[in-house]
Amino acid sequence: MYYRINEFRPTKDRPFVLGLPTGSSPEQIYANIVDMYRSGKVSFKNVVTFNMDEYVGIPTSHPQSYHSFMFKHLFQHVDIPPNQIHLPSLENYGEYDNMIAKHGGIELFLCGVGSDGHIAFNEPGSSLASKTRVKTLTNDTIVANARFFNGDINAVPKSAVTVGVKTVLDAREVILIADGRAKAEAVRQAVEGSISHVWTVTALQMHPKFIMAVDEAATEEL
Ligand code: GLP
Repeated sequence: MYYRINEFRPTKDRPFVLGLPTGSSPEQIYANIVDMYRSGKVSFKNVVTFNMDEYVGIPTSHPQSYHSFMFKHLFQHVDIPPNQIHLPSLENYGEYDNMIAKHGGIELFLCGVGSDGHIAFNEPGSSLASKTRVKTLTNDTIVANARFFNGDINAVPKSAVTVGVKTVLDAREVILIADGRAKAEAVRQAVEGSISHVWTVTALQMHPKFIMAVDEAATEEL
């Protein structure tokens, strides 16, 4: 991500448009980027960001909102102007893909994956042609994300605003990160599975510039 931003050499008139995920997978990446920023190796002054998703039903000020996550792990530590930060919401989701298009499209989408193969909150069964919209979360996702809500399944929001599969596919480059044994089946599907809306990550096989960055445990089903 740092390499691509520097290679692109963004300017005020031609900013680097970056799609960003939340979750535990990108935490270390954000920590590394903050270190790079602090040592003067990267600047976000001419970077425009679009986050993938956000819960519905908790305020943005909630400590577990993706808004809070992004400020805590990245935005509050770097020089990105607040008006260049975008997160999807109930207010803007109908316009979100247009907003991305108005900025010239996403240059690089960094992306995590759920153990059931969802990208952003494109749960199994999501259309591969989908754009930004509201999705009901599956029970598997609610259970998986309860760890962020003191293990309380009832505290996890039941729906979210999410970019669509097509929104991700429209980016000029996609990097997917997956760590740990729990992601091994999703990684297998992403690499060897048939393209299907059951494992939405498989849609990335159609992307001409798709890279996966995984640890060894996540490759165990390959
Ligand atoms: C959530 C997010 C996804 C993320 C996934 C995996 O459901 N909506 O964008 O990729 O979790 O998260 P983690 O990296 O914490 O395993």
